[in-house]
Amino acid sequence: MDEKKIVFSALKPTGDLTIGNYIGALKNMIDMTNDYDCLYAVADLHSLTVDCVPAELRKRSYDFMAFFLAIGLDPKKCTLFLQSHVPAHAELAWILNCFTQFGEAKRMTQFKDKSAKAPQNVNVGLFAYPTLMAADILLYKADYVPVGKDQLQHLELARTIAERFNNKYSPTFVVPEGITGKKGSKIYSLADPTAKMGKTDDNANGTIFLLDDPDTMMRKFRRAVTDSETVVRYDVKNKPGISNLLTIYSVFAGCSIEEAEARFASSDYATLKNGVGECVVEFFKPIRAEYNRLIADKAYLEEIMKQGADKASYLANKTLSKVYRKVGLVR
Ligand code: TRP
Repeated sequence: MDEKKIVFSALKPTGDLTIGNYIGALKNMIDMTNDYDCLYAVADLHSLTVDCVPAELRKRSYDFMAFFLAIGLDPKKCTLFLQSHVPAHAELAWILNCFTQFGEAKRMTQFKDKSAKAPQNVNVGLFAYPTLMAADILLYKADYVPVGKDQLQHLELARTIAERFNNKYSPTFVVPEGITGKKGSKIYSLADPTAKMGKTDDNANGTIFLLDDPDTMMRKFRRAVTDSETVVRYDVKNKPGISNLLTIYSVFAGCSIEEAEARFASSDYATLKNGVGECVVEFFKPIRAEYNRLIADKAYLEEIMKQGADKASYLANKTLSKVYRKVGLVR
């Protein structure tokens, strides 16, 4: 029998989820559960590497789990859990720290960017962020890791650490492969269509959050920055705003960009913006209803978290035991 390949990914609960996360990550995560053994974590330990308000971190951890379920990730088909509920992540991260050179961690561009942005809090956790991420992945012998392009350098480091460990001892870790989203899977801020729509976007008007109510979503779409022409055409270079709206429409209406273009060919910009807004609002209507139902049922969410953590712990501890033995710790 063919063993299914293993997929691991995680989302950091810093900032609320956006339709950018949906298109760039979540949608793909759902699709992959059909073909792979998938483990998806809420990377709450990673959130601690930047200043965060305890109550917000806790709320977002529930929110993320509720959204995982509401968008259609089925806990029977994949493993959903909080990173901090599986102590093996922190334990393996320590070991991997000892197999990572200071110079390697220091070269990470995310570390440099984040240190420059928050010079008052360049903590050791921020420095060790990629080794915790490597532990997340290596514990489950993941073959594939869906990540954003900005995380590819971290993935490369995880591969390096895995190979180093395997060479020094004996084959222990699977060397993971990164998978970045398909073309056209990236969407941009509505307020600045040349900048990525991020969960921590400075301009909240440019970002559609999954938690935004329908009126807020519509208002943001109506205000979307376009251009001074009047023709609806997909042309990323010259018409980034219009192209972005067409991309968003195509994803949520489930059609190609060409079809989206054709549907709005004779529309003015206001009609396009309303059309795209309504399509997104409609798409998220049942998801929002399901989210609202789940978030009111903490006991159920905690049960799902626990089941996920139990399944994940079982696998993670097998790898961790092997590692402990190989490096010479007394078992
Ligand atoms: N660092 C990732 C991000 O910011 C989140 C993450 C944590 C992750 N651990 C991971 C992604 C392991 C993939 C695999 O997006």
